[in-house]
Amino acid sequence: MNQSVTARAGAPFTLANGAVLKNRLAKSAMSEQLADGRQDPTARLERLYRVWAENEIGLLISGNIMVDREHLGEVKNVVLDERSDLDAFRRWTDAGRADGTHFWAQLNHPGKQTPKFLTREPVAPSAIALGGGLEQTFNTPRALTDAEILAVIGKFARSALLAREVGFTGVQIHGAHGYLVSQFLSPLHNQRTDRWGGALENRLRFVVETYRAIRALVGADFPVGIKLNSADFQKGGFSEADSMEVVQALAREGVDLIEISGGTYESPAMVGAGLPQPGKASTRQREAYFLAYAEKVRKLVATPLMVTGGFRSSAGVEAALAGGATDLIGLARPLAVAPAMASRLINDPGYRIEMSMPTTGSKLVDQMTFLAITWYEYQLARIGDGKQPLPRMNAWRSVLSTLWGLGMKGLAKRRA
Ligand SMILES: Cc1cc2nc3c(=O)[nH]c(=O)nc-3n(C[C@H](O)[C@H](O)[C@H](O)COP(=O)(O)O)c2cc1C
Repeated sequence: MNQSVTARAGAPFTLANGAVLKNRLAKSAMSEQLADGRQDPTARLERLYRVWAENEIGLLISGNIMVDREHLGEVKNVVLDERSDLDAFRRWTDAGRADGTHFWAQLNHPGKQTPKFLTREPVAPSAIALGGGLEQTFNTPRALTDAEILAVIGKFARSALLAREVGFTGVQIHGAHGYLVSQFLSPLHNQRTDRWGGALENRLRFVVETYRAIRALVGADFPVGIKLNSADFQKGGFSEADSMEVVQALAREGVDLIEISGGTYESPAMVGAGLPQPGKASTRQREAYFLAYAEKVRKLVATPLMVTGGFRSSAGVEAALAGGATDLIGLARPLAVAPAMASRLINDPGYRIEMSMPTTGSKLVDQMTFLAITWYEYQLARIGDGKQPLPRMNAWRSVLSTLWGLGMKGLAKRRA
């Protein structure tokens, strides 16, 4: 078995356009929050991505890059548009492509998932507020007009073309986690009665048209992938059956890679919250959250798949690849505390990283400061500063840093 662990994770993978990923391990998107005040990439981002690229990962997917600077999800998001400093992007992609690593840009629009202090009037398919206590932090959006929807699609395509120009080797549409694309797919969040809402064939029009617009600009040989929810894990929301239909529609369109995740801000299954606790019986089920879904998708489409969420060990990676449900393994949080994890997974069959959800002990504080995300952002910033991450860092240190950052922002009266 030891030999096969190394063989499978380390085996190259060829995409439809002929591009070869040097192995099966991919860094899934993690919003770094390391842009400068003009939302351009910084030296810290270059350092962070160089560290990952030089430690054997096959594919790096950037944290979400916003396509509209009027609609950020977080204060320090990177934006790629005609006002961007393209040389700063080129320096970033040079770093992320070190050692023959593929580096893709994840493109996103937050829709209603943008906090009040950033966006006074968020936009969404329908004027429906986020629930589950998030009303405190997020304003109710207004519904996009037909013309505005077409304009947003144009922005995705423009950013994708720029991504190709500045040296990214592919792009990924962020269609998961409750952001704008996923809001269009959801029957809870999309209650439009025009061609963009209602039946699933209308709800998926936004993502299909976005894909087509990107493809028309970047050409047939530039990889275009999508990150998609297996489900939103909300009653009456985007279901597994819906998701299977979307996967098939995108496969027909020719999408190069489908990454599978799940959840939204209201129900954050992407980081394992609220999912059934792992049983002992199956290594595969125990480790990765969305493998069972991928197994079903595999029977429907031939498009390459990447499953993300929960992978922590060489044995778990081996089992998932051997089972054939996924081609690539997506890794996020572990790479924030163990940036050389890919190398360990490939070379050490006994490797396992133990990780627990960071907590202050107060659910309220954890939620208000988005600790499940911000704790990891703190680690990314450390790597970007040339320091070692702190895998056992006390949660309060992250909370204080988050509050300090918000305070500074408030004082500067910055608005994106
Ligand atoms: C700090 C942080 C930022 C994230 N930002 C993004 C993002 O920008 N886009 C995205 O698709 N997923 C994002 N995610 C989710 C991860 O890509 C991944 O789906 C999730 O963390 C589960 O994988 P893991 O168990 O390997 O961490 C983020 C997760 C973390 C912890």
